[in-house]
This record gives sequence, C-alpha cells and structure tokens, in this order.
Amino acid sequence: MRVLIMGGDGYLGWPTAMHLADAGHDVLVCDNYLRRTLARQLDVEPLVDPPNLVQRAAAWREQGGKPIEVAIGDLAEWGFVEDLFARATPQAIVHYAEQPSAPYSMLDRRAAALTLHNNLGVTLNLIHAVHRFCPGSHIVKLGTMGEYGTPNIDIEEGWIDVDHKGRRDRFLFPRQAGSLYHTTKIMDTDLLWFYVRVWNLCVTDLMQGPVYGVETEESARDADRLSPHLSYDEIFGTVLNRFVVQAVAGIPLTIYGSGGQTRGYLDLRDTIQCIRLVVEQPPAPGELRILNQFVETFSVRDLAQRVQTVARRLGLAAEVAHVPNPRKEKEEHYYNPASTGLLDLGLKPHRLSDDGIARMIELVRRHHERIEPSRIVRNVRWD
Ligand SMILES: NC(=O)c1ccc[n+]([C@@H]2O[C@H](COP(=O)([O-])OP(=O)(O)OC[C@H]3O[C@@H](n4cnc5c(N)ncnc54)[C@H](O)[C@@H]3O)[C@@H](O)[C@H]2O)c1
Repeated sequence: MRVLIMGGDGYLGWPTAMHLADAGHDVLVCDNYLRRTLARQLDVEPLVDPPNLVQRAAAWREQGGKPIEVAIGDLAEWGFVEDLFARATPQAIVHYAEQPSAPYSMLDRRAAALTLHNNLGVTLNLIHAVHRFCPGSHIVKLGTMGEYGTPNIDIEEGWIDVDHKGRRDRFLFPRQAGSLYHTTKIMDTDLLWFYVRVWNLCVTDLMQGPVYGVETEESARDADRLSPHLSYDEIFGTVLNRFVVQAVAGIPLTIYGSGGQTRGYLDLRDTIQCIRLVVEQPPAPGELRILNQFVETFSVRDLAQRVQTVARRLGLAAEVAHVPNPRKEKEEHYYNPASTGLLDLGLKPHRLSDDGIARMIELVRRHHERIEPSRIVRNVRWD
C-alpha cells in the first residue's frame, strides 16, 4: 500500500515508517519539525536527539531498508497539503501530526491557540484532501485514551448504547478531557465523525494510552541514527521514560499527588504493530472504527515502584517523592477501559517487564551526560 505518515519525524511516526516499509509498504513521511522547534524554544531538547528526517531516511537505506520518501512542510497549510496529496494519492494516511503535549497546551494563551489551530487545522486539511484526491483511502488517526477522562463507569471502545425513556440509540462514548490538548483530540473525533457521516469516509480513530520505550526491531539496526527522540522533560516526556531518566540522574521520581492516577500504557513496539494491523485491515467506507490502544493499566504509583525496584537492583538510589499535583485531575478513581478490538485484529502485546525497564535504564545511562535536571520539572500548573 502507499502509506502517508503525517508527523513522520516524531516519537511514534519514525518507528512506524520503518515498520511499515519493512512490511513492504511504500512509505512517505511528512513533518515540519514543529516538535523540534517547540522543544528548542522551551529549552527541553530530548536526551536522544535523532538526525533530521532526510538523514534518517538515508541511514535507513544504508541498512538495506526499503526507501522512505520524505516531504518537509506544514500540514496545517492547505497549499502544501493540496500539492502533497495530488502527488502522492495515498491509500492509507496515518495522522500523528499534532502538538501532543498536555502541559504545553496549558502553558499560556499562545500555546493553547497554537495547539488548537495546529491540531484541528491539520485534521481538517487531511479530511478535505482525502475527499478531493483519494476518496476511498483510509484515515488512521491517533487520538488518546485521555479523551474519555476517568468516568466512574466502564469505558467502552468508542461507543455506548443508551436506553432512554423506552428508546435505544448508539452514541460516541462520553468524552471529558483533562487538558486543552486532550480537548483538541475530542474535537478531532467530532470532526471525523461528522465527515464520516456526510462523505462516507473510512476512518480508524485510535484512543491510545501513553507510550514507553525507544527500541524497536528496526531501530536496533543502527540505534544511534534510527532511534526516535527520547524526551524526558515535563512538557514532552511520557511518564515512564521520565521516571527512568530521573532514576539515572539521581533525582527523585516525582509523583503528582497521591499517584493513584491510572491510565492504559503500551510499549512503542506495540504502537507500531497496532498501526500496521489497522492499516492492513481497514474498516468499510462510511465507518468510524474506534479502538482503544493500550496493553495494560498502571497507576503512576505502580510505575514509580516498578522503576524503583529495577533501578535499585542496578545500584541506583531511585528515591520517590510525592509533589503537589500541578494538574486538575482525580488522584484516586475507578478505571476499567475495554481493549479487545486490536487483539481481535491480531495484536501480540508486549507487557512491561523488569528486563525492559533495565534495558531502558542502560540506554539512558549511555547518554547520562546529556541529562539536564532543570528540564524535568517545569511546574506547568493547570490553574
Ligand atoms: N506518545 C504518546 O505517548 C502518545 C499517546 C497518545 C496519543 N499520542 C498521539 O500520537 C501522535 C504522535 O505523538 P508523538 O509522541 O509521536 O509526538 P511527536 O511530537 O514526537 O510527533 C508528532 C510530529 O508531528 C509533527 N507535526 C505537528 N504538527 C505538524 C504540522 N502542522 N505539519 C507537519 N508536521 C507536524 C511534529 O513536528 C512531530 O514530529 C500525536 O497526535 C499524539 O497526540 C501520543
């Protein structure tokens, strides 16, 4: 298949590109380096900062990988998107190209406006480009489990049947996000659902949990040049990656509040596996397929304890500190989300293992001289 990956320079985009190319697909990646620019502006560059997309695509070819084509440009600009789609006419589009950080979106009005305009602008352009240039193609959109929030009922996979005054209908599962970023993801889902109904689009919306890890089978062929960025700061770093860096840096693992915040997590290797399975098994036209993309749930407390145990075995102090919660969120809550759709499509999940945590610690140790502790806590407060 001809697959376009929007946001192909990203933590998830680049590993997905290599994985799909390895599976035999023709892959085109597109990015405008927005994440790199924002990280530089805020002085939160990653621990592992990979070469640019053109250099990585060249390194991938040197390792014998099927060529990955690169296009650099802003997907929120219609002129660029029009040219790209007219030329590429992809059969599947994986849409990662968003400002992905909740704390970034809560920094100030400017950051909130950038997040809103960028995320919704790219999604709208994608929808119109598909309608105009490749109407039968499959949109694979990365949403987040954070769209659902933490309701006091079981979370279904995307939809809920409601009985009301003797009648029954099916609706999108209620959404109530905890940040402006997550709210843009809800708006994306609404946009897609609207155009699925009016234009018969073929869409998979993946409600993904936080991802951890940097190693994949493909990146291991040349870890220095093919690994994705590993961010460990409060703005762009996901929690487990951040805990590992804190343990190596000899600073306490910071838990917000009591640490009972529970979410569904997955290994980077499972993200790319899920995307391949979804791309290769599209839904019918006119269907919005929603899948919950995570493998297992942990509280933040559980994760800190898992990292602490392994780190101590490796001779690190790995203290844990509870700090006042800068976010507005429930710290103890019910959490029971469904996630059978991707298993039905063939997902073979990797569970978080002590060995996996130890490998992450070893990787971070190799780069420990680059750790800048001031990047880890930035105190972005929701109020
Ligand atoms: N990483 C996670 O744990 C996680 C969890 C749930 C959902 N997601 C979602 O997955 C997607 C990818 O996340 P990620 O962690 O790889 O983030 P990332 O920031 O590493 O990657 C996103 C990429 O999109 C690019 N981009 C953004 N706006 C663009 C634009 N207008 N034009 C061109 N390129 C643009 C950025 O430069 C970046 O390289 C995001 O939509 C995010 O919300 C990520």
